[in-house]
Amino acid sequence: MREKNNRVNFTSKLGVVLAAAGSAVGLGNVWRFPTEVGNNGGAAFILIYLLCVLAVGVPVMISEFLIGRHTHANTITAFSKLAPGKWWRIEGVAGVFVAFLILSYYTIISGWTLYYLVQSLKGSFLENKDYSACFSSFVSDPYVPLLYAIFFMLMTHLVIARGVQSGIERFSKIMMPMLLLIIVILVVCSFGMPGAGTGLRFLLKPDFSKVTASVVLSAMGQAFFSLSLAMGCLCTYASYFTSDTKLVKTAFSVCTIDTFVAILSGFIIFPAVFSVPNVNPDEGPGLVFVTLPHVFNIAFHSVPILGYLFSGLFYLLLLLAALTSAMSLHESVTAYVIESWGVPRNRAAFLVSVSCMALGVLCCLSFGVLSDFTVCGLTIFGLFDFCASKIIMPVGGLIICLFTGWYLDRKMVYNELTNEGTVTFRLFRVYLFLVRYVVPFAIALIFINELLG
Ligand code: TRP
Repeated sequence: MREKNNRVNFTSKLGVVLAAAGSAVGLGNVWRFPTEVGNNGGAAFILIYLLCVLAVGVPVMISEFLIGRHTHANTITAFSKLAPGKWWRIEGVAGVFVAFLILSYYTIISGWTLYYLVQSLKGSFLENKDYSACFSSFVSDPYVPLLYAIFFMLMTHLVIARGVQSGIERFSKIMMPMLLLIIVILVVCSFGMPGAGTGLRFLLKPDFSKVTASVVLSAMGQAFFSLSLAMGCLCTYASYFTSDTKLVKTAFSVCTIDTFVAILSGFIIFPAVFSVPNVNPDEGPGLVFVTLPHVFNIAFHSVPILGYLFSGLFYLLLLLAALTSAMSLHESVTAYVIESWGVPRNRAAFLVSVSCMALGVLCCLSFGVLSDFTVCGLTIFGLFDFCASKIIMPVGGLIICLFTGWYLDRKMVYNELTNEGTVTFRLFRVYLFLVRYVVPFAIALIFINELLG
């Protein structure tokens, strides 16, 4: 039987979808996805990515939803409740730990977007200057990026401290529609730029010669990251779903919105990038912070008002996306602290914000003072991102699938996904086949291939 639920819940269906989509749509879509597309050769990467979302992302998301909603508890407690005294609990612990780790470096990049928003409003991108040097000197500064990161963390903190309904749900309902509107405006603007044709060709014409095992692993890591999977973030949100929330439908909606936003971000960025001579799409993480300001400057030199508008809206988009995702990372740790340590929400949120920021200082300094400190050739920031998205997330996805596919009672899984038989789930067998065989096998294969290669 399902547990009696006496925690707070999201109050509406729209709130559920927008909060979960808010978690998924983030820097991963607007900053990381175009970067990965640029580095991994364009359209072929996108196709593999779509396949990963359908075959791996959707089943894992459904599994997370069912674990969260069934237990109505934070991730660690959820695994302990479903498998008392078993090792599965470690997945819950890893989830909360990695959410904390990701939040620490996510906040730093989000701080950059805040700084760039301020710069674009000041009109800095209308001046002719060396944007690469500006970016390097900004990120390597020991104080300024940190200040912006702290400010961003404060915004996240204030939302989380207000709670599930008047914090997370309310702000998601305001910010997500704004975000979607901005995307549409920017896509239209970008299509009007001279490089639109070349940009679209880059995004739509696949070159399979560039596809290697490592490209496939990157696509899968990107899918996990972008859909907020494998770390229990969505388990936590799902624990606030009501008993009539349709889990499968919600998972499909969230995956669709997230994928649309990622691809549309590509449609915003690449036409703009190809509109300017001597700018390459494979710039890496600097793509939206170095390449784009340069593009804004050249493309809109003669019509500064458009420059203001385009750049301001773009960084506002990044900021909104980052904020709704940071909220979910924060909530997943905060919910654990509240429920397991018995600390009131305000204090729990404060504890998480401050300790996460302390770790964030290390990530932040790894672009400057600590840039020579490397582990296996990676800076602290690179190491955190590598461990999270290339190792812990795929392994976490694997464990979640094995857990729901093999450990949990099949009848209980079916009942949870169909709301005790009141909604139909015709593809239940397909889902079960995917989580039992296909996803674990695919993740293991790609992993082994990468290790051997
Ligand atoms: N999905 C978010 C993005 O695209 C980031 C994110 C939020 C996340 N919560 C997560 C990533 C949980 C992994 C796990 O930017």
